[in-house]
Amino acid sequence: MNNIQNFLEKKKMNINEFAKSYVSNLDIPIDLKNSIEYSLVNEGKKLRPIMFLALLEHYGINSDEYLDIALAIELIHIYSLVHDDLPAMDNDDYRWGKLTNHKVFGVDIAILAGDAMQTLAYEILSDNKKLPTDTKVDLIRILSNSSGSSGMIAGQIYDIKQENYTVDESYLKRMHSLKTGKLITLPLIFAAQIAKKDSKELYLIEQYGYELGIAYQIRDDILDYYGEFEQIGKLPSDENKKTYLSFYGIDDCEKLLNEHTLAAKNIGKKLNNNWLYDFATLLLTRKK
Ligand code: IPE
Ligand code: IPE
Ligand code: MG
Ligand code: MG
Ligand code: MG
Repeated sequence: MNNIQNFLEKKKMNINEFAKSYVSNLDIPIDLKNSIEYSLVNEGKKLRPIMFLALLEHYGINSDEYLDIALAIELIHIYSLVHDDLPAMDNDDYRWGKLTNHKVFGVDIAILAGDAMQTLAYEILSDNKKLPTDTKVDLIRILSNSSGSSGMIAGQIYDIKQENYTVDESYLKRMHSLKTGKLITLPLIFAAQIAKKDSKELYLIEQYGYELGIAYQIRDDILDYYGEFEQIGKLPSDENKKTYLSFYGIDDCEKLLNEHTLAAKNIGKKLNNNWLYDFATLLLTRKK
């Protein structure tokens, strides 16, 4: 487990460095630049781009050559959080242990910074010089599908418009797999596509991401309620919503977290991928 911790720390540093230099070279209005840098280069875990780099390495590909694609993945994640924190959504004042983007730069800039990060992700993908055009088109389609109206955004709708739906087991599972699972699965599919893996590998990778994504959001809901600000860097936020925690209660919630994690680990085994196996194990007890 120490190995994987070191790997996560090292890759997080690489991604932050790459992101910092990318943003500083952008020829864009300074208000926008400051707002993007504030949320992008930070204490966030950078897990999605790290999953992408780790899987590339597992496939024997030099991951240093794909930091731009890793950054595109993180830009989509950060845009989703900057918008998630807005007063019209979760209305949160703190993230990563500091004030949220709109608290510092204003709601107007935070909205535009989110929009800008989203479009920058597609610009980065399109500009990549290494990948063949057909692979880039595939990645662009997968990114828009996973983050857009049939992916993360759909999940966010289910999260904020619960009064319009019947909230039951299948609803909560669908909400988690869309709002969180889709962007957890995406980096793995990206790596498998770049490595030109067959449909069997892609199928298993998707199953792994599905299980891990649900587990990841269950743990997030638990941490939202029980976590310490010093660790998670955010304050309790979803008190008025149905989450796995408020729906099932802590005991069943922990049970489901274990079940989905175990399912992910078993798929990691099937894939002969120790990194994915260890990663799921590590996330089960994450403190932030
Ligand atoms: C937070 O994700 C939102 C969820 C989908 C649970 P992370 O916990 O991965 O975000 P970072 O590490 O703060 O960027
Ligand atoms: C996931 O849900 C957010 C996104 C899909 C962007 P949360 O609203 O629970 O995430 P946090 O707790 O604010 O990070
Ligand atoms: Mg939310
Ligand atoms: Mg939130
Ligand atoms: Mg949360």
